[in-house]
Amino acid sequence: MTTLTEPSGPAMTATAVRAPAGLPRLLPQVPGVPEDLRAHLARHGRPPYRGGRGLLIGSVEAAGLTGRGGAAFPTHRKLAIVAAARGRAVIVANAAESEPASRKDALLLRVAPHLVLDGIQLTAEALGATEAHLYLHPGTGHAIMRALAERHAAGADRLAVTVTEAPPRFLAGQESALVNRLGGGPAVPTFVPPRVTERGLGGAPTLVQNVETLAHIALIARYGPRWFRELGTAGEPGTMLTTVHQPDGQTQVIEAEIGTPLRTLVVGAAGPGAQAILVGGFHGTWLPVGAAATLTLDNQALKRHGATVGAGVIAALPADRCGLAEAARVTRYLAAESAGQCGPCLNGLPAIAGALAELAAPGPRRATRQNAERWAGLVTGRGACGHPDGTVRFVRSALTVFAPEITRHERGQCSATNRRPFLPLPDGMPTTEDDWT
Ligand SMILES: Cc1cc2nc3c(=O)[nH]c(=O)nc-3n(C[C@H](O)[C@H](O)[C@H](O)COP(=O)(O)O)c2cc1C
Ligand code: SF4
Repeated sequence: MTTLTEPSGPAMTATAVRAPAGLPRLLPQVPGVPEDLRAHLARHGRPPYRGGRGLLIGSVEAAGLTGRGGAAFPTHRKLAIVAAARGRAVIVANAAESEPASRKDALLLRVAPHLVLDGIQLTAEALGATEAHLYLHPGTGHAIMRALAERHAAGADRLAVTVTEAPPRFLAGQESALVNRLGGGPAVPTFVPPRVTERGLGGAPTLVQNVETLAHIALIARYGPRWFRELGTAGEPGTMLTTVHQPDGQTQVIEAEIGTPLRTLVVGAAGPGAQAILVGGFHGTWLPVGAAATLTLDNQALKRHGATVGAGVIAALPADRCGLAEAARVTRYLAAESAGQCGPCLNGLPAIAGALAELAAPGPRRATRQNAERWAGLVTGRGACGHPDGTVRFVRSALTVFAPEITRHERGQCSATNRRPFLPLPDGMPTTEDDWT
């Protein structure tokens, strides 16, 4: 674990700049070129501090911003709870990006670090927070440390930001696991209540917010809720960063307007390039290509198909791969990533992973599919965190979308012509308790 602390300095004052139109909002105007402090200030001006606790929250509510870390929870509600709490508050920017298929937070930190840091400072003011942390994926801290040094030299920040690397585990970014890790313990989830917003780091009310969410707050503070709502849908305003795995193996981070047709993001979503689309990452949902081609990137549209946008991971499985082999690999990984604290994870997920492995091999028994479904039902809604439910969502949708392939495997056949794994998984499976710290 790396922990680095940036000392605080005197604050800058705000300047007005013209609100940008269209896309991109978060990403730099020149794709891939990182914005240093000069470029950032030239584009967005200085952070508009409001001079008091709570004052930004009404704008965030009017903007209709929801969290971009996966659950799409209304951001203003969490802000209001922590701002109303007595005593000191803590803010944590979550860039653990523990989902192996996601790349968007690492990219955001690399190309627009100052937007994230402005979001931390402005939100800290709104909460009256006296402590700020940035918790990030291993190896992604270079640009942020450079940005913090630039801000220190310019006297830009009011509050010091402590940067800590997360362990490379799937659960490391779950908010109670994160609080445990920053408190010096292992990055494993704890049972709620209390929620971290009531009693989090060091017992203080703690706001855990995805870094992309904080970058949106930095823009809402400058340009206002009406501007924010110029893109997106009425129910789900704004843009979101998506990580798109194209069927040709290319991975792109795309800032997209919420409500964008999936077929404009994924090459071949409406054609022969892909056989199925995974929406929402490893806790997400497989969709048949035909359904995905009619859908848009928003929870209202996706929920009719049992899916959510999650943290914006979309993967188009090429036509030449075996969907069952992909589902089995990911389920084995997810089962191995459980913290092993609760019955559903300890017993249920390995059994489900075993059934998927059997279905992915030639000649599975006919009872295996029913067993996988039954065990998935037993796991649902239990456990201290969302890991079993997320895993089951992924498994159940795989069993449905790849049902014709199961029948083929039962006959000893497989339609795949390419055995190369498609969905990204970390090298090597974690094996020891030390991996949690
Ligand atoms: C298993 C699991 C892993 C998670 N990993 C992350 C993560 O890597 N990054 C993240 O921002 N949120 C992650 N979350 C969600 C966090 O618990 C939390 O809800 C989020 O950081 C809140 O930020 P938001 O409201 O801005 O989305 C995870 C949740 C679960 C259940
Ligand atoms: S449900 Fe699973 S992953 Fe979540 S805390 Fe319990 S054992 Fe750990």
